Amino acid sequence: MRNRVAVLHGVNLDMLDRRPAEHYGGLTYARLEYRVEQFARDLALEASFFQTNHEGEYVEEIHRAGDYADGLLLNPGAWTHYAWALRDAVEVTGLPAVEVHLSDVDNREAFRRVSVLDGVRVARVSGHGVDGYREALERLKEEFA
Ligand code: DQA
Repeated sequence: MRNRVAVLHGVNLDMLDRRPAEHYGGLTYARLEYRVEQFARDLALEASFFQTNHEGEYVEEIHRAGDYADGLLLNPGAWTHYAWALRDAVEVTGLPAVEVHLSDVDNREAFRRVSVLDGVRVARVSGHGVDGYREALERLKEEFA
């Protein structure tokens, strides 16, 4: 049975609690991981976590995830909007990917409306805060069924 999810966070997500509270709720990155781990356990999924501020490392982790995960839960931060290499990396793994954002990226600055993952991910959840991660995990679980 497929149940392993690689939860990959990108640039500046480690600084969550120092970023605008109206978008990120004052949440720490550690707390975010803790909550996502709980959601995963409730859904009988096995989550592993990775965060980096280096795009190449993020790309390499997506590649590696092909060996240890059944699906990707991706919040690449600002890379979402311009780092086209991420799209190709997701394509390389062939794993189902769900894109998630804490904030409502469609109702912020115009540059945030672009997603390099358009067309390679199975779903996108945006603007639902930490609860959006539960939705994203549920969506991945459907893919595994
Ligand atoms: C984000 C949204 C991005 O636009 C932003 O650059 C982030 C966080 C989110 O989770 O809302 O760093 O991905």
